[in-house]
Amino acid sequence: MGSCLVILASARSRGNTAIAVERLASRMGRRPEVADMCRMNIVPFSYGSGDCDDVARLRRAISESSSVVFATPVYWYAMSALLKTLLERLGDPSHQPPGAGTGWERSTWLIATGGDPVLPLGFEVPLIRAATAMRMHWGGTVYVRSHDGEPPQEDELRQLDGLGGEIEAPPHTGRHRVTLSHAEGVPAPASVVPHRWDR
Ligand SMILES: Cc1cc2nc3c(=O)[nH]c(=O)nc-3n(C[C@H](O)[C@H](O)[C@H](O)COP(=O)(O)O)c2cc1C
Repeated sequence: MGSCLVILASARSRGNTAIAVERLASRMGRRPEVADMCRMNIVPFSYGSGDCDDVARLRRAISESSSVVFATPVYWYAMSALLKTLLERLGDPSHQPPGAGTGWERSTWLIATGGDPVLPLGFEVPLIRAATAMRMHWGGTVYVRSHDGEPPQEDELRQLDGLGGEIEAPPHTGRHRVTLSHAEGVPAPASVVPHRWDR
């Protein structure tokens, strides 16, 4: 199995989310592959249209990775539209036999960047549930705050230093756990009810 894949779902390649991703990458023994969604052609979900764009490439990259980090800014209290579009496309039931699920048995984490002190209530829920429905194992979230549109500062970026170790730790060490959530009211993955695509 391959390395860690970071899906950078910001509207800019060199923005705050990219800075957070670079910090994570610099602390990992093996640099992750970074898929920069704003440089890709990703069309909105449409029933039965299949993968006529870069989603096919992303599917392959996820399949070849051992873990996946979704990295998104908070745009209007939610994940970026790029990431939401990707989730809709990855879960497209026309890509699998009915009820088969996509079955990506790999760990996944979230890096979110924003200007507010904490993540909006429920921010992680669609991601946790979508990841769970795709049989990914939820690792947790790191929220990196920045002020007044400035790049995130060292004290915020430092939170990412431990995440690389979490990601690279083999599952049997027991170091994979949800410890990093910053939002209030987030359900533990165990309480997530599987979506019907997951059965
Ligand atoms: C369109 C837009 C909407 C935003 N909405 C929010 C928001 O709802 N909550 C928040 O904390 N920050 C919000 N921000 C601030 C960004 O989340 C923050 O600056 C982030 O780090 C930007 O990351 P980027 O440089 O990768 O785009 C918003 C920024 C933009 C451009």
